[in-house]
Amino acid sequence: MDLLDHMSAYAVAVGLGSSLPPETVTNHDLSEQLDTSDEWIRTRTGIAARRRADQCTTTADLAVAAGRAALVSADDSPDLVVLATTTPDRRCPATAPEVAHRLGLGHVPAFDLSAVCSGFVYATGMADAVIRSGLYRSVLVIGAETYSRIIDPEDRDTAVIFGDGAGAVLYRRGDADEPGAVHGVELGSDGSGADLVAIAAGGSRLPNVFPDMPRDLRFFRMTGREVFRLAIRRMTASAEALLAQVGWPAAELDGFIGHQANQRILDAVANRLGIPAERRFGNIGTVGNTAAASIPLALADAAASQAAQPGGRTLLTAFGGGLTWGSIALTWPAARPVELPPHAAARIPSPRPEPLEPAPA
Ligand code: ACO
Repeated sequence: MDLLDHMSAYAVAVGLGSSLPPETVTNHDLSEQLDTSDEWIRTRTGIAARRRADQCTTTADLAVAAGRAALVSADDSPDLVVLATTTPDRRCPATAPEVAHRLGLGHVPAFDLSAVCSGFVYATGMADAVIRSGLYRSVLVIGAETYSRIIDPEDRDTAVIFGDGAGAVLYRRGDADEPGAVHGVELGSDGSGADLVAIAAGGSRLPNVFPDMPRDLRFFRMTGREVFRLAIRRMTASAEALLAQVGWPAAELDGFIGHQANQRILDAVANRLGIPAERRFGNIGTVGNTAAASIPLALADAAASQAAQPGGRTLLTAFGGGLTWGSIALTWPAARPVELPPHAAARIPSPRPEPLEPAPA
């Protein structure tokens, strides 16, 4: 490619995939273990149920299944794998190389990206940059999480919100007028709010090696009310900045998918932006908040039901721990999403000649 080709290249979403563990945990199930109720959870969050991975299923399993589904959907393979996750299989090494290996992708570069609930938007921003620059032709972006492993089952503030799952998008170099083309990216962070969404122990600041570590330090904790307020403010501002940059009026958007943090947050952001209710897509009611997986899961779900016309102007926006936030302006993809359960991925033929590794039993 020469310089002019670089400048006119766009990252285009050409494959969509998702994977959800089969076990559903309803609000009624939770109300038998915690001081909560179906009514409280529904009215305060919009969530009726979420999925939970069994003890044999890891983030990598969900990521492999969603990634495989996106590759089948695109009938293509990537030059780079970016796995957005807060819940890697291990602290070291990153989970993405194992995912790439199990997808039969040979020695492609692969890395984890940590931006909590903004992870998918950040990873899409990176995919867009490396495709536009000409460094790579195609990038597999996966958001995969097993929050059930980091949530305190006794903490009603968080246990009712989060769920497990994975979503994936294959981006390929293409043109601005192709359905799925990324037209703009806006990202931001504010580390002064790092303590608002955190697991205190397990890093270099406080290694999780001491016996009798208090629960508050071992498990995920969130200052819900403050995060709620900031999520609305940051997602709205990020979306407004990006829409101004690409010249898309909010009222003329064909699709809007916000990070599925809380239905009340999504409603507040969309109302402030002036996006009509019928253009807002999401599935928080059945899958809960799946952090980095939430936007690609909602995108695959909405694409499966043909919620918008391919080529329609679409806004994705997210907010998460860090604090981090960001938005993506893209046109609605033409891709048909594929959904695979965890462990099924290894039974699907690889688009590449390399043999697949069997998933762990
Ligand atoms: N069941 C019943 N009552 C509850 C529950 C529960 N599960 N959780 C809290 N309550 C109680 C509180 O104790 C409080 O009682 P009090 O008034 O007697 O003190 C009352 O309900 C109201 O509590 P709030 O915290 O004010 O409830 P709120 O309406 O803010 O909802 C929630 C809490 C759902 C956590 C909300 O604040 C929220 O969604 N926050 C943002 C989450 C988010 O955006 N996450 C994305 C970023 S996270 C990431 O990056 C991984």
